[in-house]
Amino acid sequence: MDAIETRHLTKSFGHVTAVNDISFSVKSGEIFGFLGPNGAGKSTTMMILTTLLKPTSGEAFVGGADVSREPKSVRQKIGYVQQDIAVDEYMTGRENLLLHARLSHMPNRMTESRIDEMLSLVELEQKQHEPVVGYSGGMRKRLDIAGGLLHMPDVLFLDEPTVGLDIQTRRKIWDYIRRIHSEYGVTVFLTTHYMEEADSLCDRIGIIDGGRIVAIDSPARMKDALGSEMISLEVARADSDRMLQELQNMAGMLSDIRCDYGSGAITMVASNGTGAVPKIFGAASRCGAAINAISVTRPTLDDVFLHHTGHEIRDEEDSGFSRGLELARKRRRSSGAP
Ligand SMILES: Nc1ncnc2c1ncn2[C@@H]1O[C@H](COP(=O)(O)OP(=O)(O)OP(=O)(O)O)[C@@H](O)[C@H]1O
Ligand SMILES: [Mg+2]
Repeated sequence: MDAIETRHLTKSFGHVTAVNDISFSVKSGEIFGFLGPNGAGKSTTMMILTTLLKPTSGEAFVGGADVSREPKSVRQKIGYVQQDIAVDEYMTGRENLLLHARLSHMPNRMTESRIDEMLSLVELEQKQHEPVVGYSGGMRKRLDIAGGLLHMPDVLFLDEPTVGLDIQTRRKIWDYIRRIHSEYGVTVFLTTHYMEEADSLCDRIGIIDGGRIVAIDSPARMKDALGSEMISLEVARADSDRMLQELQNMAGMLSDIRCDYGSGAITMVASNGTGAVPKIFGAASRCGAAINAISVTRPTLDDVFLHHTGHEIRDEEDSGFSRGLELARKRRRSSGAP
């Protein structure tokens, strides 16, 4: 059974179709990511899967349970860490987790030990008795993730888990996600608009743009599918003419061959980069050219994104994180707290 399955899932807000006929599945035990720009429909999909929004049409199942017909059963199987940080600033880290445990009706006998375990997982034991107001952004996010995991969900939903965090903190959070995945066997569904996050963390990704999934596969296979690789070659300046002639005879395998006669640097696009390398060495030895350096550059996930969407992902560091802080402050104010 798949951990998540959607069939023709659609969600409209008035005339805006936020999620447009999405069908995909996530295997049990996978780390699966939705990669897409602002407004692509990532959070909306996640909110349907976590039963917070009703789909306009189509179906979705989590752990085999129908999100529309069996929302309670879905909620028991999942942990959800929303895009905006949802911790209470004036409670301590431990108190926040205790509140989480109460809200999810966790049995008292296991609450304390489970909180200890989660605090240790996200390395917040030292800070657990301090109010969250003194925590850094990364620490708040770690606490939020610990809360999502407290009741041992089968599927953990992480909406933009590292948005607005610096790169070191981001890497640290990736490590926690990997540990959560390997130590607890949790299926992880995350959304991101960071290429590196999708590339390094996810077994498979769905590229989502304008409410539609435009591609779905492992990052490696997506890059391979683009096929062409860039080969850069350096030969002695005196050899560059002869070498260029030999390369031009390899049409079919190489294209877009360019030579900088000043430096002897030659670049070309190869339909099969690693396969072309021995043939390039063969060509060099035929014409008596000495190769000083050679490198093969594979397409990146940015190239994949551009290929499928026709535009680059806008990396707006605007930050759900600062929005999260603002939201937490507003909540605090409206509850009359100091
Ligand atoms: N409650 C709502 N009412 C009206 N429109 C909405 C609502 N929620 C989302 N939308 C619209 O649906 C589209 C998808 O929004 P969504 O929040 O799912 O995108 P996202 O991919 O999560 O973007 P981001 O990277 O900014 O978080 C956007 O055009 C958004 O303005
Ligand atoms: Mg979002």
